[in-house]
Amino acid sequence: MCQGHKYRHARQSCCTGDSKSHLSKYTANNLLIMTLITLSPLSVFCLAELIENMDKKATWDRFYTETSSRTATFKNFEWFFGFDAVRDFIMPFLQTKSHPDALLQVLDMGCGTSALGPGIYRHSPAPVQVTCADISPIAVRLMQEHVQTQAVQPHNLSSKLEFVELDCTQLQRHYRTNVMDLIVDKGTTDALLRSKEGKVKASLVLKQCLKVLRSSGSLLQFSDEDPDARLLWLETEAQEQGVMAADVGVQEVGELRGVCYYCYQVTPRPVV
Ligand SMILES: C[S@@+](CC[C@H](N)C(=O)[O-])C[C@H]1O[C@@H](n2cnc3c(N)ncnc32)[C@H](O)[C@@H]1O
Ligand SMILES: *[C@@H]1O[C@H](CO)[C@@H](O)[C@H](O)[C@H]1NC(C)=O
Repeated sequence: MCQGHKYRHARQSCCTGDSKSHLSKYTANNLLIMTLITLSPLSVFCLAELIENMDKKATWDRFYTETSSRTATFKNFEWFFGFDAVRDFIMPFLQTKSHPDALLQVLDMGCGTSALGPGIYRHSPAPVQVTCADISPIAVRLMQEHVQTQAVQPHNLSSKLEFVELDCTQLQRHYRTNVMDLIVDKGTTDALLRSKEGKVKASLVLKQCLKVLRSSGSLLQFSDEDPDARLLWLETEAQEQGVMAADVGVQEVGELRGVCYYCYQVTPRPVV
């Protein structure tokens, strides 16, 4: 069971082991380990620099340039885990109810070169418009090329998939309010929160998400951050007296390589 299993909202427990100090140590090291696995020892990357600058476009342009240059054929890079690990968390949100004729609007925020967005497009029985957005044009181009060569087919023939270069701190410049049914974020808010100058951006991104989400919509953050820290952050940042409010919850996704992962759900609540 994950450390701190008495979280208010946790519905199930799956992780084994660890004292609190152990877990937070693993958590802090996880990104480092992930990066070490991914990059060759000869990489010009300075890891500490990478972690401090995960809010910067230039960092990710370098990251995706390097990771893609290491293999002749394209390979999705997955932060934490792939689509299959989170499929059961996402699918329940893809039910057409209030707008049976319209495509469900799904945004993968900071998609990188993950197969998460394409996975939703491929497997959703309900017709979806999946937009995969990333600040790095390198990642966006890699994905555009990849889906073109793979000719990925959707479950529902009405579904659409697109990749766009977009700074998610500026979501509201690109989308009207109340348009998104689901926003998924795998590791993006984590990256912002961990970097030296990213905390303000993380808070901005969250606020913009709440604005562009429909009242029936949700934001799902997949993260390895401890619920004690993330729930408090979400509850604090998602409230603005008289302007916005949200309900916040967490479920355990599971344990991988000794790290416990969570799915944080944020749902806008009407302001009274
Ligand atoms: C930790 S990676 C996760 C990538 C992907 N979601 C996955 O699961 O593999 C964080 C991603 O967020 C992107 N990113 C960072 N800041 C961003 C911003 N302001 N707007 C959009 N994407 C951003 C990075 O380019 C990077 O691809
Ligand atoms: C695609 O979506 C439409 C509209 O919701 C639905 O009527 C149809 O059955 C779906 N097709 C498949 C193959 O699921």
